[in-house]
Amino acid sequence: MATTKGLRYDWTNLRAEVVGSGRGLTAADLQAHRDQARAAVTAIGARLDSGEFGFHSLPSNKLAVAQIERYTRACRGRFRSILVLGIGGSALGPFSLDVVANGPRPFRKKKAPAELWVLDNVDPLILGRALETLDARQTLVLVITKSGSTAETMAQFVIVYDWLRKKLGAKKAARQVAAVTDPKKGDLLQIARAEGFALFEVPANIGGRFSVLSPVGLLPAALVGVDIRKLLAGAGDIVPPCRQPELDSNPALQAALHQYLLDTRYGKNTQVVYCYSNALWALAFWFRQLWAESLGKRFDRKKREVLCGQTCVAALGVTDQHSQSQLYMEGPHDKVIVFWEVEQDPYTIRIPKLFPKISSTGYLGGRTLNELFRAEKFATELALTEAGRPNATILFPRVDEYHVGQYMMLAEFQTAYAGEFYDVNAFDQPGVELGKNLTYALIGRAGYDAERQRIAAYRKQKADLQS
Ligand code: PA5
Repeated sequence: MATTKGLRYDWTNLRAEVVGSGRGLTAADLQAHRDQARAAVTAIGARLDSGEFGFHSLPSNKLAVAQIERYTRACRGRFRSILVLGIGGSALGPFSLDVVANGPRPFRKKKAPAELWVLDNVDPLILGRALETLDARQTLVLVITKSGSTAETMAQFVIVYDWLRKKLGAKKAARQVAAVTDPKKGDLLQIARAEGFALFEVPANIGGRFSVLSPVGLLPAALVGVDIRKLLAGAGDIVPPCRQPELDSNPALQAALHQYLLDTRYGKNTQVVYCYSNALWALAFWFRQLWAESLGKRFDRKKREVLCGQTCVAALGVTDQHSQSQLYMEGPHDKVIVFWEVEQDPYTIRIPKLFPKISSTGYLGGRTLNELFRAEKFATELALTEAGRPNATILFPRVDEYHVGQYMMLAEFQTAYAGEFYDVNAFDQPGVELGKNLTYALIGRAGYDAERQRIAAYRKQKADLQS
C-alpha cells in the first residue's frame, strides 16, 4: 500500500496473484516499466520546472489567495447565492468543492455562507429556472472561462448580465460580477475591463481541467465557505511524493502506470471510480473529465494514429450495487474498479433495535449505519476480487479540504504521467475544439466558413440517405 501523509492507495487487488493470471499486474510488468516510469517523472518535471505547466505550483500562489480572501471578506453577508457561469474545467472543480464542504443537494450543511449555483450547461431549463428563482440583489455572478470565449459561457454571461442590469441598473450590476480568465488575452478580459468587473487571473500555464486550485476553483469555493488554505495545504503536501522518481515511492506514478498497463496489456479499457461517499460524488465527475479529456486521443506525439484512452465511469456506493455491480461482477472483463473509501464519518448513526424478531430488521438492531456502509464496500471488494476483477482503493481519512486537496493534486500528476505512458499530449483537447468550431459555424460566428461547408455537405448527405 502506497502511503503518503493522509491519502492511501491500496492496489493489492490489482495483482495477478490475487485476481488471476492474465487479469492483473505481475511483478514482471512493473519491473519492465521502471525505467519508463522514471523517464515520465523526468519529462513532466522538466516541463513543470520550465514553467510550461504550472498546476503543481498553485498551492504556493499567495497573491491569488490574498486577493480571493479580501474579496470574500468584502462580499460576506451580502449575497445569498453565488452563480457560476462556466463549463467543463471551469465548472466541475467549483461544484465538487462545494459538495465536499457543504454536502450534496438537498442534504446541505445548515451554515453554508451562500448557495452555489453552477450552470455547466446551456440547457434552457437550467438557466430559465435559475433566473426565475434567484434574487438579483442577493446574487453574485462569477463568470469563469480561461479562453474568455467559450460559446456556452459567453451565452450564459450575456443572458445573466442583461438580467442583472435590468433588475439593478448598469452600475450596480457591474459591481455584482467577477470575471476569472486569462490575464493577458481573450474577449472576457476585454469586457471585464470595460465594465469594471472584479478580475481574477487563471495563470497562462494552467489549462481548464488542471485549474481547480487556481481562482477558477478557489474563488467560488471561498465564497461558499470552503477552507481554501487547508485545500492548498493538502495539495502542496502531496507534491513532493508525486515528484519522486522511484515508482515505489510515488503514488501518482504508480496509479498512472497501473491504469496504463491494465488498459493496454489486459484490456481494462474502462476505469470505474466506485465512490463510497455522497460528499465525494461530484469529485468523481471532476476526475472523469480530467482523465477523459487528457488521455482520449487519436494521435500520439509522433502523429501516429493510436485511438487511445480509458473510459472513466463514476459509480456511487452503495447505491450502484443495486444498479451497476451486476455488470461489474459478471459482465465483460474490460473494467478496473477504483474504490474511494472514507475512514471517518461526520455522523455515527445507530440502528434502533426495533422489530427484533423480524429477520430483516433483527440482525441490524444495535449495529451502526456506518458499519453497514463499510461492510457493503468490503463485501463488494471481496466479491469482485473473487470474480477475478482487478480493483484498488483510495482511502480518504476524512472528507475535508485537506484530503481533497491532496487527491486533486495526486490526480493531476497521475494524469500527466499517464500521458507520458500513452505518449500523448495530456494537456490539449483537439477533439473538443472541433465540436466548438462546428457550433460557432452553426450559430453564425464570423470566420468559420470551412466548418459551414462541412456542415452543408453533411446535411445534404444525410438528407439524401433519408429520402
Ligand atoms: O479542460 C479544458 O480545457 C476544457 O474542459 C475547458 O475547461 C472547457 O472547454 C471550458 O473552457 P474555458 O475555460 O476556456 O471556457
